[in-house]
Amino acid sequence: MKRFIVGNWKANKNSQEVIGWMDKFSLGLMERKSPQVVICSSAIHFPLVKELIQEHNLSSRVSAGLQDLSVFPGGAYTGEVTARMAAGAASFVILGHSERRKYFNETVQQTARKVIQALDNNIVPVVSVDRENFQNQLGQFDNETLSKIIIMYEPPEAISVQDGKAGAGKPAGIVDIEEMIESLNRMAFGTKIVYGGSVTGVNISDFSKIQGLSGIVVGSASLDADEFIKIINQI
Ligand code: PGA
Repeated sequence: MKRFIVGNWKANKNSQEVIGWMDKFSLGLMERKSPQVVICSSAIHFPLVKELIQEHNLSSRVSAGLQDLSVFPGGAYTGEVTARMAAGAASFVILGHSERRKYFNETVQQTARKVIQALDNNIVPVVSVDRENFQNQLGQFDNETLSKIIIMYEPPEAISVQDGKAGAGKPAGIVDIEEMIESLNRMAFGTKIVYGGSVTGVNISDFSKIQGLSGIVVGSASLDADEFIKIINQI
């Protein structure tokens, strides 16, 4: 398995918590050969995360990413964060996450527009799909686009529960993931695939054995620096 791990903080943490997390994280990562790590914070904490990565000398192993982008390139769209704003700073962005689809009614077409915005600005999109929407979502892209994205397989019910929201906290089974990898490979041969949904320091060893996965996306368990380090150490 190639070493690639994404922490998705979702709508969590304030600035003090980000600073505390990064202190603990950098200590835990010290002297260890770690996989490539991407921390996807909120847009408001993105500059702080970037600054702390540099301050702790983690730039060669850790980069900062975002959790969403605007469908628009820019203009009179109050409140939007565009790919152009993030260009040169963000290396990755999670797009089409099932929480965006469920709580904000994001469509596959909107996700596709965001993917194009990200690629036009040299930001690698991690496009979230599930069994229900993957054909429709990936069908929005030509082969060249498919070769530039990362596909994240995440069944919505696999997502951990936070404040009674999101999934059911039931991680996907190994066979289910292997089947999906096969289906995704048929549609997008060669495109990197990562898995997300209730990955913890306890079950990571099951996922890290799966052939054809290039990495893991960790939500709830990435909120705790020690738990995140435990996962990283087993990849
Ligand atoms: P989870 O979330 O690890 O809390 O289940 C993963 C994700 O939705 O990115």
